[in-house]
Amino acid sequence: MATVLVCGGAGYIGSHMLRALVSAGFRPVVFDSLVKGHVEAVPADIPLIRGDLLDIQALRRVFSEYDFEAVLHFAARIEVGESVREPGLYYQNNVGGSLNLLTVMHEFGVKKLVFSSTAAVYGNPVQERISENHPCMPINPYGRSKWMVEQMIEDFSSAFGLKAVCLRYFNAAGADPGGEIGEAHNPESHLIPNVLKAAVSLNAPEDDSSRFELNVFGSDYPTPDGTCVRDYIHVCDLCQAHLLALNYLDDFEGKAAFNLGSGNGYSIMQVIEAAERVSGCKIPYSIGPRRPGDAAVLVADSSLARSVLGWKPALDDLDMIVKTAWNWETGRKY
Ligand SMILES: NC(=O)c1ccc[n+]([C@@H]2O[C@H](COP(=O)([O-])OP(=O)(O)OC[C@H]3O[C@@H](n4cnc5c(N)ncnc54)[C@H](O)[C@@H]3O)[C@@H](O)[C@H]2O)c1
Repeated sequence: MATVLVCGGAGYIGSHMLRALVSAGFRPVVFDSLVKGHVEAVPADIPLIRGDLLDIQALRRVFSEYDFEAVLHFAARIEVGESVREPGLYYQNNVGGSLNLLTVMHEFGVKKLVFSSTAAVYGNPVQERISENHPCMPINPYGRSKWMVEQMIEDFSSAFGLKAVCLRYFNAAGADPGGEIGEAHNPESHLIPNVLKAAVSLNAPEDDSSRFELNVFGSDYPTPDGTCVRDYIHVCDLCQAHLLALNYLDDFEGKAAFNLGSGNGYSIMQVIEAAERVSGCKIPYSIGPRRPGDAAVLVADSSLARSVLGWKPALDDLDMIVKTAWNWETGRKY
């Protein structure tokens, strides 16, 4: 049974990955600082090492203790707005932390890496459906930090034979259908959990501080209903792509990048309508001004992942995605 290191395995996507890895016969070991992750998201029988990627000695200790076949690297700071206010935090954590990881992987001869990249590496779209050939011109420190890591990976690959797949996720969404784990960012900047939070808060008394109204950033975009259009991909489909990527690395040399999106674009209003269908609640929202840096439409062309990795999203229906998120949101464990 192959042992794999999951950096950031106590976070939203990483914790879903742990279940997928166990089901596929891998033995995951989690390395997470818990700066944003949750102990409760890691099953008790999976080793959880609390450590920071910025602490290279802690990484070396973990690599001495286990014989890793591969590394899945989810650990990062992920908030675009915060990255604009605190760029140093993002370059230090995301770039510096990844450099330590690549260094220690090289020292210990671990050759396989799956890296969590993002659609934010592309910046403002110059084509409607974004393929991997789209120029990478990130427009904020978060996106730039991820693009820098991709470039470091390419250099480690050329110099030392690192075999790496960078998976550029569009909007990860939904939750494990069992309802045990789900999206729990703090603060939450993602649309679907915030739409559902507004629905759940309707249960609170009208003057209660937990009452929450969704703020829609702009309704004057050149889209059918004026709100931004995004591509939502179920977290369990992302996990399946990681398993396929691990498999792909057996016979692959070099660095590859794949987009992971459903290829369907949904507007904010369509997400609100889906949440109303699923929850049976009238979602309270108000329309505010546009948020700087938001593109009108971001939709993936993920045909490369489909043809090369054999990936096929199974949960790409918006109502299905929202349903699993609602199931989690209404019975949250952490
Ligand atoms: N959520 C999305 O929609 C989305 C979209 C595109 C890309 N991504 C990427 O996917 C990855 C996972 O995202 P997520 O939504 O699960 O985020 P998350 O914040 O839930 O998880 C990240 C985890 O990494 C840990 N971490 C952060 N810095 C660390 C460090 N220096 N050392 C050790 N652990 C550290 C955190 O404690 C947390 O558990 C990130 O790399 C993110 O950039 C996410």
